[in-house]
Amino acid sequence: MTINIISSACRWVYDKFVYSEHLEVDKVDFDIISEVWKQQLWPNRKSEIRPMSSMQFLGGTDMSIYEKYVPSFWAVFDNDNIIGVNSGFATADIRYRSRGIWVDPDYRNKGIAQLLFDQIDKQAKQENKSVCWSIPRKTALPAYEKAGYVKCSDWFNEGMEFGPNCYVKKSIFHGKTGYPHSQGSFRSSSY
Ligand SMILES: CC(C)(COP(=O)(O)OP(=O)(O)OC[C@H]1O[C@@H](n2cnc3c(N)ncnc32)[C@H](O)[C@@H]1OP(=O)(O)O)[C@@H](O)C(=O)NCCC(=O)NCCS
Repeated sequence: MTINIISSACRWVYDKFVYSEHLEVDKVDFDIISEVWKQQLWPNRKSEIRPMSSMQFLGGTDMSIYEKYVPSFWAVFDNDNIIGVNSGFATADIRYRSRGIWVDPDYRNKGIAQLLFDQIDKQAKQENKSVCWSIPRKTALPAYEKAGYVKCSDWFNEGMEFGPNCYVKKSIFHGKTGYPHSQGSFRSSSY
């Protein structure tokens, strides 16, 4: 009994603080992430899954972002299995959006989402953006808050197929001290 409790506690500590240390975030192609989105994140989604969305922070749309900005797609692998994905792209001069974060249910609560959010921060900084934003579902908000995002709207369903969602944002600091510039390794042929 006592050994079981100690073993579970060690497992919990390992999962929370050590597991994700060994993992890398890789840049991937849209084809790879779109399959995961279709099967896992947005099953039976009615609207087409596109590499970017025209939605703007706190409402409205801007179709010009499709011409102005280039999206990035990332995945975390356990051997050859994808265990987490996310994407990001600029939506305005100062803003960068995180879109489509998903972690395999068997790998949740091990900090994998935080690795993916770190990549968003790095990319936003590289593209000289000062605010990251997103539109999380209610169930996902705690993971965003842990990454430093702040809820800045009420929950809403309008225009959302998997809501309710809200807007969140996070400031990106461009100070000189200790910001990592590494982009991780690359699995994509086109980057
Ligand atoms: C949201 C999601 C990406 C989080 O991934 P994750 O790797 O498990 O997140 P982390 O391990 O970094 O967890 C971060 C924190 O959020 C909490 N958390 C994560 N998912 C949660 C959930 N569904 N409900 C409540 N809390 C949750 C964790 O407890 C953790 O906090 P703690 O370390 O202080 O305990 C994952 O749950 C997921 O893929 N959900 C389904 C898809 C989804 O909803 N994506 C977001 C679309 S907007």
